[in-house]
Amino acid sequence: MNDHVLMLAVSAAVMVAGLWAWRRWHPASFWYGVGYPSRTVLVYLTWAHVASGCGLSRRRRRWRLTLDAVPVAGPAARSVTVATYRRRMRRVDVERAPRLGWLRPTRLGWRVRVRLHDGQVPADYERAAEGIAHAWRVHSVRVVDVRPGKVTLWATMRDPLTEVTTVPETGELLTVRPGKLENGADWVIDLRTVPHWLNAGATQSGKSNLANAILKGLAPQPVALVGFDLKGGVEFTPYAPRLSALATTRAECVGLLGDLVAEVETRMATCRAHGARNVWNLPDHLRPVPIVVLVDEVAELFLMADKSEKDQVAKTGTALLRVAQLGRAFAVHLIVCGQRIGSDLGPGVTALRSQLSGRVCHRVNDPETATMTLGDLDPAALDAARAIPAETPGVCVVAGQDGTWHRARSVYVPEHEAEQAARTFAHLAPDWADLIGGPPTIRPAAA
Ligand SMILES: Nc1ncnc2c1ncn2[C@@H]1O[C@H](COP(=O)(O)OP(=O)(O)OP(=O)(O)O)[C@@H](O)[C@H]1O
Ligand SMILES: [Mg+2]
Repeated sequence: MNDHVLMLAVSAAVMVAGLWAWRRWHPASFWYGVGYPSRTVLVYLTWAHVASGCGLSRRRRRWRLTLDAVPVAGPAARSVTVATYRRRMRRVDVERAPRLGWLRPTRLGWRVRVRLHDGQVPADYERAAEGIAHAWRVHSVRVVDVRPGKVTLWATMRDPLTEVTTVPETGELLTVRPGKLENGADWVIDLRTVPHWLNAGATQSGKSNLANAILKGLAPQPVALVGFDLKGGVEFTPYAPRLSALATTRAECVGLLGDLVAEVETRMATCRAHGARNVWNLPDHLRPVPIVVLVDEVAELFLMADKSEKDQVAKTGTALLRVAQLGRAFAVHLIVCGQRIGSDLGPGVTALRSQLSGRVCHRVNDPETATMTLGDLDPAALDAARAIPAETPGVCVVAGQDGTWHRARSVYVPEHEAEQAARTFAHLAPDWADLIGGPPTIRPAAA
């Protein structure tokens, strides 16, 4: 007998050790082989409770065979009242959980489609998502892929953004891959689809790192890069070899923006002359080089030390807005970084912001900044932006034009890496004077 117990104990120990080793050395196959099947069983077994606890169940009246207790008295009962039971069909209230589809495994969790009860909307599930995540003991549950009458719940067991490895270079014109999305897909910025981007966040939240990643991704491409850096040039000067122009003082900013507006107007005239709506419809030999304008800390552009700068600030604001409004068709793209871009900065800022259709919101200090950056997107996106912790710089909420949003994280690109890329591809930087076809108002970046 003792031998049997010992044998059982030993085999159990061996099995536990084996499972531990499997999980330790090959977590991916462990997940598909053991983790996912056991989670599936648990999710299905507990779904009725979970849905009820999260307020997703509905009461329905259903026919049920019930047992009724009938008191019996008499000799058989020896004068004690005994209950006998009689079966009866009757209508009773039952709680019905929404129907759960097939649990499909993903690398970090699972996706499952849920059929909405009549009267339910996807927002009900968004509100319940946190409760479901706790009940399922997972990192997060998100509502994705909303179809008429159905939503998909997407559960992830750990934050996929703790480690991000990817390369920003994509090899496609005006397309960079600055990081990863929460769903494990690449985060791709395609400037031909979304021409201008706003990159906002508190200090040390990862704005400059994202700018570095974009710069590194664009450096090997046939595009002209232009920098505005009113933090005294400390951010962009190291990348000067790859920049066609760099403005670090207010006077230079006014000059460079003047050049940009003039260039946009030239391109507009060329397109008009050739009956093209945008530069991409022009014949190859006439198509101008795309220009990507990087602005670090946009607030500095609008800051006024005294009244004498008022004119310059107004000019800057107007020129930037013109570039944003017209740039889309003429391959001039803006990537504007800033801690907050609100109407308090000055007139024209709100109009500029509305032109920047791509939005990246890093960690923010106040809810208004998140709202300002992401606009009136899904409230869950604003919550996600507010919940970004300080320990994970580079994590952000990204919103494109189509109203969808994602949590994402930029890949870490330290300054020396971006600097190296700028030096390696310095020969690809078009000369600013050649590009604008005349003497520049501003010295070339590398001079
Ligand atoms: N994606 C990332 N992965 C890992 N670390 C990151 C990432 N992004 C930023 N960091 C770290 O956070 C620090 C601050 O990032 P960054 O300089 O980009 O912030 P910032 O928003 O530009 O701040 P500031 O407003 O002060 O310019 C960086 O020095 C870097 O070490
Ligand atoms: Mg910075």
